[in-house]
Amino acid sequence: MGQAPNDAALAAYGGFAGLSKITQDFVERIQKNQSIGRFFKEADNERLQAMLTDQFCDVLGGGCKYGGKSIKEAHRQMKVTNADFNALAEELQNALSAANVPFAEQNRLIAKLAPMQRDVVER
Ligand code: HEM
Repeated sequence: MGQAPNDAALAAYGGFAGLSKITQDFVERIQKNQSIGRFFKEADNERLQAMLTDQFCDVLGGGCKYGGKSIKEAHRQMKVTNADFNALAEELQNALSAANVPFAEQNRLIAKLAPMQRDVVER
């Protein structure tokens, strides 16, 4: 977990360090979620949290390079539904709101992640 080269792009998230705290809270919220918590029972939470932080930093223009599995590969054969996807997106918004990230910035991140739905949800 290092310093992002472009912390200014992450200012609304509290920089890379703030973003890292947000993804930690996000992972905790997902795990406690009634409908999708079961997906994460055997997850490597430390890796997941680090991968999410790098990926969010990357898509926000924070200067990180996400180096994890492709999104399609990471979610293969999980049978994630659209409802599951929406539940996860809602928990992300909850975590962002709890950290007082302004709505416009929340939407900036959500908009970058939305197109990944087709690689996460299995049809
Ligand atoms: C835009 C939405 C999503 C993004 C950006 C995302 C991102 C990621 C990333 C970056 C990883 C780690 C890949 C790696 O280890 O290399 C991951 C793993 C995982 N994701 Fe997602 N994900 C999304 C949606 C979902 C949904 C909707 C579910 C289920 C409800 C889900 C369940 C999982 C699980 C179970 C893992 C594996 C954890 C492990 O085995 O250690 N993801 N995801």
